[in-house]
Amino acid sequence: MRERLFWILKDYGIDERIAKAFLEVPREEFLMKHYSLSHVYEDVVLVSYEDGEVFSTSSQPSLMAMFMEWVELGEGMKVLEIGGGTGYNAAVMSRIVGENGFVVTVEYFEKVCKIARENVRRLGIDSVAVVCGDGYYGVPDFAPYDVIFVTVGVDEIPEHWFRQLKDEGRVIVPINMKFSGRQPAFLFVKKGNHLEGNYKLETRFIEAGGNLGNLLERNKKLLKEFPFRKTIRVPRLQMFVELVDLLTRRLTRMNGTFYYAGPEGTVEFSGGEMRIYGDTPEIESLLSQWKSCDYRSFEHLTLHVGYNALSRISCTI
Ligand SMILES: C[S@@+](CC[C@H](N)C(=O)[O-])C[C@H]1O[C@@H](n2cnc3c(N)ncnc32)[C@H](O)[C@@H]1O
Repeated sequence: MRERLFWILKDYGIDERIAKAFLEVPREEFLMKHYSLSHVYEDVVLVSYEDGEVFSTSSQPSLMAMFMEWVELGEGMKVLEIGGGTGYNAAVMSRIVGENGFVVTVEYFEKVCKIARENVRRLGIDSVAVVCGDGYYGVPDFAPYDVIFVTVGVDEIPEHWFRQLKDEGRVIVPINMKFSGRQPAFLFVKKGNHLEGNYKLETRFIEAGGNLGNLLERNKKLLKEFPFRKTIRVPRLQMFVELVDLLTRRLTRMNGTFYYAGPEGTVEFSGGEMRIYGDTPEIESLLSQWKSCDYRSFEHLTLHVGYNALSRISCTI
């Protein structure tokens, strides 16, 4: 049955090295529910654990394999996985990084996390460390990482991850868009004080709990009173709000209206315009960069997400 999955992945054009790793790990050992073996090796999402209180899923193998290709997962790499579930994907990645590499996986729900630990122990996989907790903080003890591999929908790429990633390291991440409810995945590369990246594809993962899933709430605390300055009309306002979300990590929502909560100013987005209070140079410069890229949606832009540096966009050729 495992060969069947191998050939499905090969048919997708997945690299042999990655497809073979799926051949080496028994997926059924990571599923706490019973499925027929033929179903286990279909290219589908499966519920791996559920008890009425918490649940976890084993992601679609072809999607995981594509993520592995995009981050150029290879021998000797150190990987941080966010959203460990019952440990299957971490086990597959451990086959690819080999004896000289290491996979650290973080799972939020204690029950699921303990199952993942037990699974890797039982199968004698010693190049995977399972950490229980909120993936928002990363795992500084094993940093720096070559790759951060995210298998849960998150609200932002926290600064902790940025700091724990090597320069030129890669992040593959599905991001929960607060305005549209979409969950696009992006591939980023660390370049100095920025992550530079592009849209890859649409996904539908479980949305994260903890600090990876409460950005709008947390940012409410950043909202302060500033004097009204001006109103600017913005074409395709929803798309601009999504760019602000991705690039500043300072979006929030109050009474159904979205705001940017900046350090020296606030922007209210509504009715096709932005009402600016105080100083918001970050937003005004993003708007002029976006205009020079013909107001394209994020799928057709390169994002440069700054950490203690201003974010910017460039027009993808
Ligand atoms: C799609 S499943 C992951 C599948 C897993 N990689 C596998 O191979 O089975 C997403 C997991 O992310 C976990 N999760 C949710 N919020 C999280 C957080 N803040 N930090 C770490 N894990 C989180 C969920 O409990 C769930 O188990």
